[in-house]
Amino acid sequence: MRIPESKVEEIRSAANIVDVISEFVQLRKRGKNFLGLCPFHSEKTPSFTVSEDKQIFHCFGCHAGGNVFKFLMDYEKISFVESIEEVAKRYGINIEYEGSETSEKQSLQEALYDINTIAARYFSDNLLNHPDGEVAREYFQKRKIKLQSMRAFGLGYAFSGWEHFVNFAVEKKIDLEQAISLGLIGRNNDGRLYDKFSGRIIFPIFSPNGRVVAFAGRIMEKKETSAKYLNSPESLIYVKGRILYGLSHAKDEIRRLDKAILVEGYMDLISLHQSGIKNVVAVSGTALTEEQVQLLSRYTKNVVLLFDADTAGIKASMRSIELLLKKDMEIKIASLPQGEDPDSFVNNFGREKFEEIIKKAQNFLEYQSSIYESQGMFEEASKAAEAIRELVKPAALIGDELKRSLLIKNIAKKFNLREKMIETELEKALTITGKQITAEERIRDRALAERETEVSVEQAKKASPIIYNLERELIKLLYEGNEEVAEFISMEIPIDDFSIEAHSQLAKIVYEAVNNNEELITSSLIEKINDEKLQSYILELTFEKYPISKNWEEIYPGDSPEVIIQKIAKDTIKKFKIAKIDLKIKNNRKLIADEISQEEIFQLLKLNNELEKEKLLISQSN
Ligand code: UTP
Ligand code: MN
Repeated sequence: MRIPESKVEEIRSAANIVDVISEFVQLRKRGKNFLGLCPFHSEKTPSFTVSEDKQIFHCFGCHAGGNVFKFLMDYEKISFVESIEEVAKRYGINIEYEGSETSEKQSLQEALYDINTIAARYFSDNLLNHPDGEVAREYFQKRKIKLQSMRAFGLGYAFSGWEHFVNFAVEKKIDLEQAISLGLIGRNNDGRLYDKFSGRIIFPIFSPNGRVVAFAGRIMEKKETSAKYLNSPESLIYVKGRILYGLSHAKDEIRRLDKAILVEGYMDLISLHQSGIKNVVAVSGTALTEEQVQLLSRYTKNVVLLFDADTAGIKASMRSIELLLKKDMEIKIASLPQGEDPDSFVNNFGREKFEEIIKKAQNFLEYQSSIYESQGMFEEASKAAEAIRELVKPAALIGDELKRSLLIKNIAKKFNLREKMIETELEKALTITGKQITAEERIRDRALAERETEVSVEQAKKASPIIYNLERELIKLLYEGNEEVAEFISMEIPIDDFSIEAHSQLAKIVYEAVNNNEELITSSLIEKINDEKLQSYILELTFEKYPISKNWEEIYPGDSPEVIIQKIAKDTIKKFKIAKIDLKIKNNRKLIADEISQEEIFQLLKLNNELEKEKLLISQSN
């Protein structure tokens, strides 16, 4: 269903983001903004900021941010359209929908959720109440799964046979084609319908807000001929890489403890949960994806990996480590005794022993080097060097300067090497990852580099820091939501004059809005930025504590904010133009210093002379 753009605007402007967020987060007024504890990550000092002027929010801790719709989407885990509907409802605005394509898709989605819910109830009823469910009840009893857990996780049982579920679906008037698309029912070559999960115990898979999106079915006894687990195929409501099993059950505890334990299996998660360890999510059979990490990072930055001690488990850990480092998560790796998995361990040894294992979790450096050690990598000099190089590589993925240097120190200490040597290796690794920049630049570019945007840090490096900062200021001004200022900048500074790709992209959005005579509102401009990283970059800029021209009010006493911002814009444009000329002059001088022909030197001197004149003109203009 399409909500007309104008309606979206109407709803957005009716809403006050401070009121909406206040329903969920306690906000206090601090200067122009409101401040509170971030609901998207766990923190003790507030870094969650809401701007009433601009109708946007931003967290300096976890970089969540956006407008009122984005807040509801993230907080309630709902879609964009749902968030618009929710705001409209609050403010008593009626929505007329346009077209029907999306509304069809939405109602199809709802229909699929309904089928899964009905199916989950059916499976659960088989397990809990049906005489023929006895085998499954016995199985769970053998595996020490309590009744309470079966209820909490909606566990179930699919009777063995051809068409128990098919008959049930027909009786309940379930759309069979839809049930097929969800992988509940299969159709064989003769066109006959059959139960897909026949004879399996059932684990419903929930979305973060608790809707059944898929199922996993496990066979009860080992059979060579059938897979141990059968999973629903991906569908309109199920994208594998975006779901973490157990998250809906674990999220509150993960927030509370500010830590998540990542395990491999369904049974692991359920056993831990029933023994009181509830901050657990499972990747369930697939390699951890970036989207899963993103999802988890909304709740915590601290992850303990607890994968099986077999080689597959180790491999999976290594891959996951890289992914988690990239997202600047804090990772530890816990290991169980050979032959145990979290489920068996907690059932055999109990909660306390399990918690000890978690406490003893190693940081990834210790973990990886112990694996290299066990592979005998440190016995030969050449192999040792290779191992150290391998250890340094992940360090290059860490965006945080401090964390990285700490790690270098640790590697140096552990292997009794000079820090300098490790640094050299790191520089090499950084060059490979294209992130080689000086420490100073790295700090300045943190907002960009951390998020690994396409935003070319390389270009930022090439441009002078002065230009870089002025560009940031210009972009910030463009997103102030002031039409006059934006128009002024768009007339004075051509897009191509921004030396950083991210900046030209961001400027372009505002320039286009100016050209179309749109009303410039920060919160709707931000929505036009498709790239999430750029969005977060602009939010950071907008909320930056200290504007580059410090204390505007002091510099221009008595002026209204409107006038002040115009003066600043003018001033910044001027400085930017001058800085660009200065850079040209400097480059010309460099060329002159190189040994070039007399003729060329003459040309360059003349050019510089003209540039100086131009500079003078600009600085004298007002
Ligand atoms: P495991 O084989 O370790 O299973 O696979 P488990 O969860 O410990 O189950 P039990 O204890 O034997 O009952 C770990 C995870 O890998 C996925 C499942 O998500 C499982 O929980 N897996 C495994 C599959 O998806 N398909 C398979 O055939 C096997
Ligand atoms: Mn197991």
